[in-house]
Amino acid sequence: MMFKSLFFVITLVVTQSLAADHNTFKDCSRVDFCTNLRTRQPSNDYSVDPDTITTNANTLSATLRPNSGGTDLVLTLTGLQEDTFRVKIKEVDSGRYELVDVLDGEPKPTDFNGVARDDTSITVSTNSNSNSARVTFSPFSIEFSKDGLLEVVFDGDKLTLLETEVNAPFSFGVKFPQAVQLYGIHEHCETLALKNTAPGGTDPYRLKNSDVGGFEIESPMALYGSIPVLYGHGPKATSGVFLHNAAQQWVETTSSSAGTTQAYFMTEAGCLDLFVLLGPTPTQVVRQYTQLTGTAHLPQIWVLGYHQSRYSYDTQELVKDVAANFDSHNFQLDAIWLDIDYTDGFKYFTWNPDTFSDPVEMQNVLNGTNKKLVTIIDPHIKVEEGYNVYDGALAKDLFVKNADGSVFQGSCWPGLSSYMDFLNPEARDFYGSMYSYENFQSTTATLAGIWNDMNEPSVFDNSLEMTLPADAIHHGNVKHQEIHNIYGFLHTMSTHKGLLERDNATKRPFILTRSHFAGSQRFAAIWTGDNTADWPYLLAEVQECLNSNILGIVLCGSDVGGFFNNPSNELYERWYQLGAWLPFFRAHSTKDAERREPYLKPEDTQGVVRTALQTRYKHLPVWYTLAFEHTITGDPIVRPLFYQYPEDVSVYKIDDQLLLGRDILVRAVAEAGVESVDVYFPGGGNEVWVSETSDDVQAGNGKVAIPVTRENIPVYYRRGGIVVRKDTVRSNTAEMASDSFTIYYTVDENNTAHGTLYIDDGVSFKYRDENDYTYVNIEVSGDNVTISNIQGDGNYPVIIEKIVRRDIVQMPEGSQSGRYKEIVHTTDASGQLLKNVKIDPKNKTVLRLK
Ligand code: GLC
Repeated sequence: MMFKSLFFVITLVVTQSLAADHNTFKDCSRVDFCTNLRTRQPSNDYSVDPDTITTNANTLSATLRPNSGGTDLVLTLTGLQEDTFRVKIKEVDSGRYELVDVLDGEPKPTDFNGVARDDTSITVSTNSNSNSARVTFSPFSIEFSKDGLLEVVFDGDKLTLLETEVNAPFSFGVKFPQAVQLYGIHEHCETLALKNTAPGGTDPYRLKNSDVGGFEIESPMALYGSIPVLYGHGPKATSGVFLHNAAQQWVETTSSSAGTTQAYFMTEAGCLDLFVLLGPTPTQVVRQYTQLTGTAHLPQIWVLGYHQSRYSYDTQELVKDVAANFDSHNFQLDAIWLDIDYTDGFKYFTWNPDTFSDPVEMQNVLNGTNKKLVTIIDPHIKVEEGYNVYDGALAKDLFVKNADGSVFQGSCWPGLSSYMDFLNPEARDFYGSMYSYENFQSTTATLAGIWNDMNEPSVFDNSLEMTLPADAIHHGNVKHQEIHNIYGFLHTMSTHKGLLERDNATKRPFILTRSHFAGSQRFAAIWTGDNTADWPYLLAEVQECLNSNILGIVLCGSDVGGFFNNPSNELYERWYQLGAWLPFFRAHSTKDAERREPYLKPEDTQGVVRTALQTRYKHLPVWYTLAFEHTITGDPIVRPLFYQYPEDVSVYKIDDQLLLGRDILVRAVAEAGVESVDVYFPGGGNEVWVSETSDDVQAGNGKVAIPVTRENIPVYYRRGGIVVRKDTVRSNTAEMASDSFTIYYTVDENNTAHGTLYIDDGVSFKYRDENDYTYVNIEVSGDNVTISNIQGDGNYPVIIEKIVRRDIVQMPEGSQSGRYKEIVHTTDASGQLLKNVKIDPKNKTVLRLK
């Protein structure tokens, strides 16, 4: 009873808080190691002892001697494939924790093909000497160059490794001599271009996964996830560093003119294990990073549809009612989500017997109209004897412990809870096995995805910054502070395994996670957490998801409409219009918010939302093709302008626009009551952009005020690109499976256009394991459209509906804007109907249009 009332008080505080609690969540000045390291003057503490240097095929080792007493350090520098180096520095006989599980396999070394030494330095080079790392002895530094261009400097001046009774902090500096702008170190609610932090001014960016209710806009405060990757970008080169370490970190950033752009990392514990990525383009640097941490596997196709959630749909009747209303009001929908109230007293893997008395019948009803169900499963386990998950984990010793060895208990949704120790593989197996149809009773295949929340992990205790104590103990006697930032990552790893096993690896698991780390893309999608129904949070969705996309986690979205508070109809409409252009598209809101399913809105708002949903579903082939290409390359699905136009300095700070792939440009309308917005059209003289919704054409010459109506936000296709769509409106992705494709393009100045299309079964891993897919090139040259297989067995035909050319008819040489005319080809040159023409990808096919 006591816990019940405590729970209500806490719920109230948590769900209603709309400003980040700065008393609970500390700034650098209240964290000892951060204060110490931040105010430390560069002191050049270490020198390389030249007599200790050894090199083997791919690794250089040396001892770093302290200049004024203390412990020797060991430096190892390894050449890796993909224009990457790895630097490790630790004490001789170091007991520092070495992170496991994060990397996607052991990085592949590459042999040095040159070692040159003089009195003051040694240089090793890789990749036919195009990459080099020059270690200077005193002062110690490592200078990384690519093709003769100095890109990254590991700054020995600021290197410190300390050991105290409670932790083992370290710090180091990195300079990016070619860069003028830093990006990365997700997750913050911040502009895409990182700001300059400075002692006495803005706090450094903090990475400590935290359940921050009511987080603030443009803030360096830590949020739910951590990706310790920093890119330095400039017109001449892009490079990056990835600190493979899951302890709390703070990063001081300075973006300035080339030669002065730099960062300073301050880390609480664990190893200094740094990957240096030499780019030299944004595409290459992102590929180098995803080479280390992996890519997402393809989502099932339904995941790319629209999702409806609320905290909570709390009866099975309501769930069925919401689903039926989507259908009867002609809103597309692929999945309905159940938040914590579906459980029996917040015991995960159970159903509330009163409100969900017949979950199987509910799932069958959803399945009847091809909808999926997603349920929440959090990592805290209610302390209650007789609850099988609790009993099992306790008996097998799978919970996180206190420093004194007793099982940790803290408060979360169920009241008193213990926390699965996901660092323990046995705990991952045990928890994962709970997802089986047998253990999670009354579940069917319609329960097609899992939502892993509160996995920072969240513990309702302000004195602990709402998480586990730093000295809590994990498997292998590892202190929580060493692995704090991968707790959520490990949670999703367990869930992923469990879902694979549940379905005998026949289906691609879908997991949404709040907490995440470098490499989380291998297991889960993310959303941006508890945002607020206010305009700046709409913009934040673009900023955060662009950032996560260049850091490997491509499936990203936000609570459409805002979690806290109630959006105006205008904000609600704009959010759907934007949400349709971000990879993960789900509406969600808190308990206190008014019900806001689209069908409850006034007719005119309904119309706007219906169009937004239809726009999303029409472009499904684009989303799916890009998701496939990500699995091969690691390329982001949505991209900031600088990624595609790296030399154009005026796009470096643009983060209210995104590119879907290369060919679709979208401008968020995150301003209230506007009749026009500035859109930056990139590409210089080479690119021309044609509107998706009107006949407007704009040259890629920079900023233009584009009129907007309530019905649409600016969306433009790139001339020379091809956009393949499925234009028939259906209720969900399943019903679109065999629909035919419409090909849209505008030819470039050479009378050509190019695109790709990917098709598979939308569900299984056969694409990965058996080559069971179609992946084709589509080339337009003059009046010919040629379709030919790139790879895959080509078992899925390309069925055409029609071909739509958008010919620029009015755009005199040198002018900024013009008009296009749409020419719809429903037949080929011989008069043969294109509709339902089945193209066998195994044979190259040329369609002649004239
Ligand atoms: C957290 C989640 C939110 C969810 C709530 C209840 O606040 O971020 O999305 O609705 O918990 O589970």
